[in-house]
Amino acid sequence: MDPIQNPFAPGAGSPPPALVGRSDILNQGTILYARVKQHRAEKNLLLTGLRGVGKTVLLNELERLAEFCDYKTIMIEATVDKTLGEVLVPPLRQLLYKLDKLAGTGHKVRRGFAVLRSFINVIKVKVGEIEIGLDIEPEKGSADSGNFEADLTTLFIAVAEAAEEKNTAIAILIDEIQYLSNKELSALIIAMHRMQQRQRPLVLIGAGLPILPALTGEAKTYAERLFQFSDIGALSKEDVCKALQEPVKKYDVKFTKEALEEIFLLTEGYPYFVQEWGYKSWNAATHSPITLQHVQESTPDVIHRLDQSFFRVRFDRLTPSEQSFLRAMAEITTNSKQTSDIAAILWLTIHQVGPARARLIKKGMIYSPTYGDIAFTVPLFGDFMKRVMPILKNRSD
Ligand SMILES: Nc1ncnc2c1ncn2[C@@H]1O[C@H](COP(=O)(O)OP(=O)(O)OP(=O)(O)O)[C@@H](O)[C@H]1O
Ligand SMILES: [Mg+2]
Repeated sequence: MDPIQNPFAPGAGSPPPALVGRSDILNQGTILYARVKQHRAEKNLLLTGLRGVGKTVLLNELERLAEFCDYKTIMIEATVDKTLGEVLVPPLRQLLYKLDKLAGTGHKVRRGFAVLRSFINVIKVKVGEIEIGLDIEPEKGSADSGNFEADLTTLFIAVAEAAEEKNTAIAILIDEIQYLSNKELSALIIAMHRMQQRQRPLVLIGAGLPILPALTGEAKTYAERLFQFSDIGALSKEDVCKALQEPVKKYDVKFTKEALEEIFLLTEGYPYFVQEWGYKSWNAATHSPITLQHVQESTPDVIHRLDQSFFRVRFDRLTPSEQSFLRAMAEITTNSKQTSDIAAILWLTIHQVGPARARLIKKGMIYSPTYGDIAFTVPLFGDFMKRVMPILKNRSD
C-alpha cells in the first residue's frame, strides 16, 4: 500500500498514530496539574522504563497537557556530558522572559532573574554568549552558597513564586533522568521536597531508565514519598491490537487476527517494535487486509532494519570487553541475571568483569533491577547479541 500514507511512526520520540495503554498516567498528570494549581499536595511523577517503551512520547504528551492546564513548561534532556545546571539554565531563563511578558504587576519575575544570575555565577555555567537580563544584578545571598542542593532549591522557589505572581504554574519535564549524577538527582528531590512544604506551583516530571535502585539514603526515602513511580512497560495484547488497528481504520484497511497475533508475539508488546512491524507490514501489503503472510514477509526486513539502527548504534559504542559481557548475558535466558553467573560464563572473576559492568551501567545499556541482578535496558537485546556475535569470546579489560 501507499508508503507515503503509511500511518506508523517508528522513531525516537515520534508520536504514535494511536497512543494506547497510557491513559492512567495521563489521568495522573491531569490530577497533579490541577491539584498543584490549587495548592494541594500531590506526588510528582517519575516515569521509568526500558528503551523504546514510549517515555519520551509520554513526556511530550504530558507537556501538552500542562500547557492545556495553563502551565508554563520547560522540557530538558539530561546527557552524560553536561551538568544539570548547564541544561537547566537556558530554558529557565527563557521561561522567566515568558513570565515577564504576562500581564500583572509585581517584582517576583525580576527577582527570579536576579536569583538565576547568582546561581549561574556560582555553578560557573557558560550559557553561550547570552546574558541574563543585562541590567539585573545577582541577588547576593540567594542561590550562591555553592551548595548545589540549597541553591537549586532557592532557584526553583524563586521561579515558582514568579509564576504564582503571574497567576500561572510551572512544569519542569526532564527526559533521560538516569544520566543525572547522584548528587544532581538528590538535589532535585530535595528541592521538590521544599517546594511541596511551601506549596509553590511547580511540578516536576521525570522520565528515564529505572533509577530508584540507584538512589540511596535520604534521597531514596524522600523520592518514595514525593514521587509516584510509574513503570512504563510493554503493551498488553489488546493494546497492541489497538495500536495497529486504529491508525489503519481511516484508510479502510484492517489487520487480520492472525497478523495481529504474530506482531504481538514478535514484539512482546514493545511499542517501538510494534511501530516497526506495523510500518513494514503496511508496505508489504498491496491491499486490505494485512495478513499473517505480509507480516511474515516483512519480518526479515524489520529485523535487518533494527539490527542496522536501533540495536547497532548501541552496539557500536561498546568496547570489546563490554560486548563480551553483554554476549555472556544473552546466554542466560532467565529474568534474573547475576554478575557472578556472567563472570563464570566468561571464565573470569567478578572482579575482572567489574569495570565493564560499571561502564555498561553508565552507558545506559544495563541496569540493576534488584541488588546483585542486572538486566538489559533494551528489549530483545539478548537475541540481537546472539545474531551479531554468534560465537562467545571472553575478552576482559
Ligand atoms: N503508547 C504507545 N502506543 C503505540 N506506540 C507507541 C506508544 N508509545 C510509544 N510508541 C512508539 O514507540 C516508539 C518509541 O517511543 P519513545 O521514543 O517515546 O520511547 P522511549 O521510551 O523514550 O525510548 P528511549 O529510552 O530509547 O528514549 C516510537 O516510535 C513511538 O511512536
Ligand atoms: Mg526517550
